[in-house]
Amino acid sequence: MNIAPLTDKQIPDAVSLWTEAGLTRPWNDAIADCRRALRGPDSTVLAVTDDVGIVATAMVGHDGHRGWVYSLAVAERSRGHGFGAHLMSACEDWVRDRGIPKIQLMVRSENSDVLSFYGRLGYDRSDVVVLGKRLD
Ligand SMILES: CC(C)(COP(=O)(O)OP(=O)(O)OC[C@H]1O[C@@H](n2cnc3c(N)ncnc32)[C@H](O)[C@@H]1OP(=O)(O)O)[C@@H](O)C(=O)NCCC(=O)NCCS
Repeated sequence: MNIAPLTDKQIPDAVSLWTEAGLTRPWNDAIADCRRALRGPDSTVLAVTDDVGIVATAMVGHDGHRGWVYSLAVAERSRGHGFGAHLMSACEDWVRDRGIPKIQLMVRSENSDVLSFYGRLGYDRSDVVVLGKRLD
């Protein structure tokens, strides 16, 4: 399985995959987010590709304390074949290789079906409330 950082040329296809998977929101600029993650020293966007194109992506980064994963999505045609689990494992390696001992992610409450997927990979629910504020 070929897992590598997304190229600039692949950004529109990655964002289309996120949109099809229901992960984008109209008030966020997913293309800009993706470019920023690829440019920064502490983040990247990993992609699995095949002959047809992008099969799966995940954005991964760290804040010096924890690793974070965003935008994990597998193309509908390729779900159920282990791509999601492999990509999560690659994200864990990416974070571990940078000396960070913890990794976490957020799941939107309307997407709670996916909790069993993460449970199979060893992820537990954290006893925290996430707070947010827009700065623009
Ligand atoms: C969630 C997602 C990434 C899973 O990817 P996938 O490649 O289909 O998953 P895998 O084939 O690697 O599955 C790994 C394991 O999880 C299980 N699993 C996969 N999706 C599941 C689901 N929705 N519910 C319960 N279990 C699931 C598989 O059966 C497999 O179990 P096994 O270890 O016993 O074989 C994919 O369904 C997806 O892109 N969903 C839409 C986007 C999304 O919600 N992303 C998460 C945002 S937080």
